Amino acid sequence: MKKVDVVLGLQWGDEGKGKVVDVLTPDYKVIARFQGGPNAGHSIKFGNDGFVLHTVPSGIFRKDSINIIGNGVVIDPVILDEEIQDIEQKIGDISGRLLISKKAHLILPTHRIIDAASEAAKGKAKIGSTLKGIGPTYMDKTGRNGLRVGDILSPEFMKRYETLRKKHAGLLSQYDYGYDITEYESKWMEAIGHLRRFQLIESEIVINKYINDDVPILAEGAQGSMLDIDFGTYPFVTSSNTMSAGACTGLGIAPSRIGKVMGIFKAYCTRVGSGPFPTELENETGETLRSIGNEYGATTGRPRRCGWLDLVALKYAVMMSGVDELIMMKSDVLNGFDTIKAAVAYEIDGRTVDYFPFESNEKITPVYREFKGWNCDIRNIRNYEDFPTEFKDYVSFIEKETSCPVRIISVGPDRSEIVIR
Ligand code: GDP
Ligand code: IMO
Ligand code: MG
Repeated sequence: MKKVDVVLGLQWGDEGKGKVVDVLTPDYKVIARFQGGPNAGHSIKFGNDGFVLHTVPSGIFRKDSINIIGNGVVIDPVILDEEIQDIEQKIGDISGRLLISKKAHLILPTHRIIDAASEAAKGKAKIGSTLKGIGPTYMDKTGRNGLRVGDILSPEFMKRYETLRKKHAGLLSQYDYGYDITEYESKWMEAIGHLRRFQLIESEIVINKYINDDVPILAEGAQGSMLDIDFGTYPFVTSSNTMSAGACTGLGIAPSRIGKVMGIFKAYCTRVGSGPFPTELENETGETLRSIGNEYGATTGRPRRCGWLDLVALKYAVMMSGVDELIMMKSDVLNGFDTIKAAVAYEIDGRTVDYFPFESNEKITPVYREFKGWNCDIRNIRNYEDFPTEFKDYVSFIEKETSCPVRIISVGPDRSEIVIR
């Protein structure tokens, strides 16, 4: 029996999951996405080519891989259809190796409208949602009203669609929010038709058979641990469990079948959307990080908020997911800094706190530890020994604080720009 390894983000998303999954895929046969939906944007770069994936697992560009969209994912057929067309234009037919869970929930056109209406009604207190309908779709899932991929095969599908759409119209009448879904709805229906081209499967059965047959599987997370619905900076979170436990419920894998958990973090920190970000730098340093790191959302294009590495939050995320190995991304972005900082504790209301607290929405002042920068270009380094001493000191400190080894270091966006220890 081969256990399932998990890759997930440890910060507020956009850590570089797409790149890491693409790099690791040759070691696996099956890549399976376990939660989230088109709120995700996972970038992959190879040579002069690049791609942003939203729903399709990031193993798809490796020829022999089987890619599964798990039951925990929410799917907008229009976005998935466009994504598939773009991929197929590049690499040809993928219908034989993209499998979709019948139990994954569908994002309806009206879910997107409810998302937008709800955000508009919140005004300044808005979550900063990607407006892809994620929250409303998970609400219908837990409220037991949702439509699932498998339902599209039923003769009752249109009737059920209409029932849910009417329910949504009732809900929307309570908002002062004008909308017209005519155009999107017709695209949506067309895309539903295209979905039938793919194998719609009982993914939990298929995955457990793979496990028993010793087939290596990698579970791919979306978003990041600090956006987890239970343990993130609530209410400024997404609507799914982004931690390793999400791989169990999002794919139908028992906890005892989980193997190595690999946690990804940036050498600094970013967040897009509203909510607490203790180490945020609303100054020139933050702007420098944004411009060198090209920190603009892969899904929405919004500028990402930038700041120093937050070891308090990172330690919390490592604990919650039982992370075995760390993967540090975007190390090259810090190349030109004389001094680099990392938060090791928080001061809240005169108290010093060394754990991530419930009161994350209160004013938090980070307590920093300073490091001397390495001040040289590390993008061409491929062996750990060749990194400058200052760089290794930074890595060692992170390992000590988190009690977790940093096994992979990314030094540039390309597939090839990676150091594996
Ligand atoms: P994901 O959502 O976790 O897959 O991450 P995103 O794709 O949203 O954002 C990560 C961004 O950083 C993408 O533009 C990547 O191409 C880029 N990237 C990944 N690793 C590195 C790296 O080591 N250095 C630099 N400079 N960019 C990187
Ligand atoms: P990947 O997988 C970064 C953020 C949104 C918002 C909050 C809720 O690319 O790392 P939602 O649309 O889920 O209702 O938005 O979560 N968010 C992300 N931030 N990366 C993501 O995905 C995100 N998915 C959602 O900006 O603050
Ligand atoms: Mg992203």
